[in-house]
Amino acid sequence: MKSLWSMFQRKRTASELESTIKANPRNISAWVRLIDARASSGGLTPHAMALVNSHDLHPTGHAVHAFAADIAKKGGPALASLATDPIKNLEPAIEELVKWKTAIQCGDSHDRSKGYFHDAEPYMELQWNQIIFPLIRDLDFTSVLDLACGHGRNSEFLRRQTKSLHLVDINQSCIDACRKRFGDAKDGTRFYYHVTDGNHLKMIPNDSITLVYSWDSMVHFDKLIVRDYLLDIRRVLKPGGTAFLHHSNYGEKAPDSNWATNTGTQSDMSAKIMRDYAAANDLDVVLQKIQGRAEGWGEDGLDCVSILKRRDS
Ligand SMILES: C[S@@+](CC[C@H](N)C(=O)[O-])C[C@H]1O[C@@H](n2cnc3c(N)ncnc32)[C@H](O)[C@@H]1O
Repeated sequence: MKSLWSMFQRKRTASELESTIKANPRNISAWVRLIDARASSGGLTPHAMALVNSHDLHPTGHAVHAFAADIAKKGGPALASLATDPIKNLEPAIEELVKWKTAIQCGDSHDRSKGYFHDAEPYMELQWNQIIFPLIRDLDFTSVLDLACGHGRNSEFLRRQTKSLHLVDINQSCIDACRKRFGDAKDGTRFYYHVTDGNHLKMIPNDSITLVYSWDSMVHFDKLIVRDYLLDIRRVLKPGGTAFLHHSNYGEKAPDSNWATNTGTQSDMSAKIMRDYAAANDLDVVLQKIQGRAEGWGEDGLDCVSILKRRDS
């Protein structure tokens, strides 16, 4: 009798929450409570359950509530179309919440952060000379985009190879630091600065970039964010252009996990997922190198560099 009553109550709660979401699709707390109601009645797939648990999409979850206003702003348009049928669309809505929660949290942890940028700068020359440049020296540096540039320690080396360098980051504070460091032009290289919402390169024209470069940033990006970026990377690359992407491989052993609590704050991306995303976007995988202790990281198989090439036709 008691369980019949609680089943009835859960159903009533879910249908009240559906109405609340339909009235305001940007109500993140209502989505989370609906997720909770469906989770407790066994209405979520194992994939959705894994995301809910690893990202703490619970009524008591900290990050999803702390960043709710920003999640609503950035994920609002997608949540609005999913809100036409919140229960049927709950799994894509969970992915939308995860995507924006991770991007916003990662951006937040690097906003005005002096610590990382100050501490990482001295390692750049060694990493560039020993790990990065040997892999990319033959690529076309005519027009380069440094994705998630931080305070520009990679851009400092990229600028010596190109006359045109686009710097993109989710944080205005990072773009400001780079502008202060390089100005509009330096030693014959022209600099262009852009802030992104965290999953796109809308401000960059189609077919305009010969090399998209990202080091020590995408390692934190959830696979859903990387999936979005790949679409735009394909769009902005010139035919035959390449992308050098340093991303996580931690998803191989911890699928659907949370970058913020994983070893080395590595995301749930993997070399295999990158191959799948590349295939879906007509990008050829030219090289993949799994990295670990040989590169000075704490653990083997932790991350990966992938070089992807846009097909000519
Ligand atoms: C660990 S820092 C690395 C910065 C730089 N690549 C370096 O090696 O010094 C990560 C950078 O990614 C940026 N970031 C985080 N999430 C982002 C996203 N979704 N899109 C663009 N930038 C992002 C942060 O603001 C930060 O500048």
